[in-house]
Amino acid sequence: MIYNSFDDTGLLKVLRFLKTHNTEYLSGQDLSDVLRISRVAVWKHIKKIQTLGYTVESKQKEGYKLTKNSDLLLPWEIISGLKTKMLGQEAYYFDSIDSTQSQALKMANESKNNGTIVIAEKQTGGRGRSGRKWISPKGGIWFSIILHPKFDISNTTLFPIAASLALSNAIEKTCSVSTELKWPNDLTIMGKKLAGMLVDASFESNKIENLILGVGINFDVNTKEIEKILKKTPNYYGVSSLNEQKNKCKPIELIQSFLSELEQVYEELNSNQTNKIISKWTKKSSTIGKKIEIDTNDGKITGEAIKIDNDGGLLIKDKGKTHKVIAGDVIHRSK
Ligand code: BTN
Repeated sequence: MIYNSFDDTGLLKVLRFLKTHNTEYLSGQDLSDVLRISRVAVWKHIKKIQTLGYTVESKQKEGYKLTKNSDLLLPWEIISGLKTKMLGQEAYYFDSIDSTQSQALKMANESKNNGTIVIAEKQTGGRGRSGRKWISPKGGIWFSIILHPKFDISNTTLFPIAASLALSNAIEKTCSVSTELKWPNDLTIMGKKLAGMLVDASFESNKIENLILGVGINFDVNTKEIEKILKKTPNYYGVSSLNEQKNKCKPIELIQSFLSELEQVYEELNSNQTNKIISKWTKKSSTIGKKIEIDTNDGKITGEAIKIDNDGGLLIKDKGKTHKVIAGDVIHRSK
């Protein structure tokens, strides 16, 4: 099942009408007359709308009434009430897909719109960093965003860091939950992984052609089950999920807020305000100031994480020597 934000189908016409008249019952005949579709078509659309998670009550002789919205991340729900100028203004929804990241990569050359978002209810081949698997059952928020940035190529490595800051801000504003940022771009709660990000970049003549940002948020997943699967894999340090927190929030509102926050950091990168991003990221970071261990291509580095550089690289001090690491998995050793 695939939906997008721009096809105006019969189903959407019926849904829109039900939404704008949700205080009254509408007869099948009225819907059929106003929307100029057959009564059978009206009935089929209502059935479909119900399977999409909306509650439509039906009363004999009176008709249909929409009493509850869907919690699915449907494209028209994301777009309605979205406060961004460009991010997320075009959306695709899949109930199941191998990976939104692979799908977005395929679409990147056609979709010239900045900020097209590809969302899936579940992924069967979710991809994590360093070629790892990303477990993506129903209940999580899994999406990828296609960008054609104008910012300087030197800001590419800072982008995922900025995106993790944007997500942390969105979770705080929408769900009233504080998260820590673990270098480079993991979000954690009490040291356990809540969300991760992946960026696939392509370049042409020293310019960024596409950046595909993949975001995975454990929103309402069974952490014990995921921990069982991941326990023996590299970079495993526990799994957390937003539903384990007291405060409840709606996934749609969280995505909308993230898109607004991402647009803000994106504009900051466009105007080279990298210091602003770095200082806000550092305030939320659980890595800076810690004794850490990190595996790099040149071997293991142990030391104290002192700060991140202008390009997002991590500076580590060990016995008076400072090392800079651009990519890798960090293990926190002490407070
Ligand atoms: C990580 O290893 O921390 C990055 C995880 C990124 C997962 C997201 S889920 C949506 C998008 N599609 C994928 O296949 N991966 C990313």
